[in-house]
Formats: sequence, structure tokens, C-alpha cells
Amino acid sequence: MHPTTAPLTLEELALFNELFIARFGLHFPDHKREILESRLLPRLRANHLKRYIDYYLLLQYDYEREKDHLIRAITNNESYFFRETTQIEVLQGDAGTELRAGGILPGRLRILSAGCSSGEEPYTLRIFEQRSPFGRGEPAHIDAVDIDSERLERARQAVYRPSSLRVLTPAQIRCYFERLDEESYALRAPFRQGVRFRLGNLVDLDSLRGVLPYDAVFCRNVLIYFAEPALKKAIDNFAHLVRPGGLLFLGHSESIIGLTQSFKAERLGQCIAYRREGT
Ligand SMILES: C[S@@+](CC[C@H](N)C(=O)[O-])C[C@H]1O[C@@H](n2cnc3c(N)ncnc32)[C@H](O)[C@@H]1O
Repeated sequence: MHPTTAPLTLEELALFNELFIARFGLHFPDHKREILESRLLPRLRANHLKRYIDYYLLLQYDYEREKDHLIRAITNNESYFFRETTQIEVLQGDAGTELRAGGILPGRLRILSAGCSSGEEPYTLRIFEQRSPFGRGEPAHIDAVDIDSERLERARQAVYRPSSLRVLTPAQIRCYFERLDEESYALRAPFRQGVRFRLGNLVDLDSLRGVLPYDAVFCRNVLIYFAEPALKKAIDNFAHLVRPGGLLFLGHSESIIGLTQSFKAERLGQCIAYRREGT
């Protein structure tokens, strides 16, 4: 703690949470107060402020200028290639063929990675599809959105540190990446093709809409940080984004059972997916 900065109080935490939930869905429970305190401290210093309440007030009148810094400070961007791949593998089997058959674009799947961080998830989808296609037809059209513009810029550059490749074997790393130096690996061109990144906020439907709904949405390790009202809003938004019969994949520790009538849990191979209801 900076000697001249007063600690974040519970009242201040409640005010920040109200703002974060309304704007991004995220919240920090009481036991994470110190985490939020340390994440916001550099922003207080950058703005020459001594109290957290002053930073909260600054956000009230100068939100647009501060927004990107705030998002960067409060989001957890942890991601890596080949994370939770059993969900991706189901698309290489009957589920992929079925999704293609009922899709809006004949022979071409539309997939969204929602909360894509620096691109590890959508690029993993692309790599898996190149190894073994998701049913027969054209390669999937993969969109990826995140609320953090800096992460999206990194995703577009597709240059990664070893921590992003930590579960890959040396042979996989050689196959998919070009080593630039000790600390940086560039994803090879064929695995970057057809993946499009854009800014999008899961609690703001207008920021997410594509021209057509998706056959599958991957939103993994994102909703775990959401407060319940925002979680419901995000699910409502997914109901607009996923076509009837399409699939929503969440992280292993996330569930929407009991929160929505729009999706029904279904076991597919080793994993649980959520099927969009309706015709
Ligand atoms: C922990 S990462 C997960 C990345 C990837 N899905 C994975 O499983 O490896 C969470 C990502 O969700 C993004 N995020 C958080 N709130 C969001 C929101 N309201 N809209 C869009 N993205 C959001 C964060 O910026 C971050 O990049």
C-alpha cells in the first residue's frame, strides 16, 4: 500500500461493484477487496489521487477517458493454447457434422469465442479444425470478441510468450509456431487465417451482434467473474447470438443450469454443453 493512500473501504468496494456490474458484468466479492485495491492503485497514482472514492468519482465524470485503463486493471486475462480441449474435440465428431447440417450457412460453421483474451482460444479452435475438420465442408468462420482492446491487439499480432504454450509439446510448438526469440513465438500464418477479432461486451448486446447467429459459442472462464444479474444478462445475450439447436460451451467450473429456459444442458462426449432451445 502506498503510504499516502487510504485502504479501499467496504462502502467504496460496493460503489465500484455497482459500476463494474452495470458496465462489464464483473464484480469483486468482499474477500477479493485487497486484490481490487492493488489493481486500482496504479490508476490512483496515474491520476494523482489519494483515495479510492476520488477514483470512483473520476469514473463518474471522465469514464470514457479512463475506461480502457480500468478494464485492463480489473479483468483477468489468463489464457493458454489447448485449454480444455475436450469441448473442441466434440466438434470434430458427430456434433460438428450435426451443427453444420442445421447451420445457417450451408457447409460452413459460424463459431464465436466470447471473452477471447489474446486469441489463444479462437486460434486453438482453428488449429484443431485444421488437424481434423469439424464435419465436412468449408473451414469454420471464427469470430472472437473481448472487452479489452489491448488484448485484442495482441491477439491480432499473434505473438506469444512461452506461458501461453505451456501445455503444448515441443513438437506441437514447432509445428504451429515460429520461434522469434527465447521469449516470443509467432503463430504460423495458416493457423491465423479466418479468425476475426473485434471489441465486444457480453452485457451489451449491440456490441456483439454479427449479421448472422452462431452455430457454437465458446465462453469459457469469463462468467465465473460475473455477478448473478450480469450473468443472466449475458445468457440472454447468448440466446440472441446462438441459433436454435446451436451450442454454448462454458468453462468446466461454470454452469447456467437453473438460470435460463433458453438453453438446455446436454452431455456430449466428455463434456457438458448447452443446447439453444427453440426451432
Ligand atoms: C480468463 S480470460 C479467458 C480467456 C479464454 N476464454 C480462455 O478460457 O482461455 C477472460 C477474458 O474475458 C474478458 N471479459 C471479461 N468481461 C468481459 C465482458 N463483459 N465482455 C467481453 N469480454 C470480457 C476479459 O477481458 C478476459 O480477456
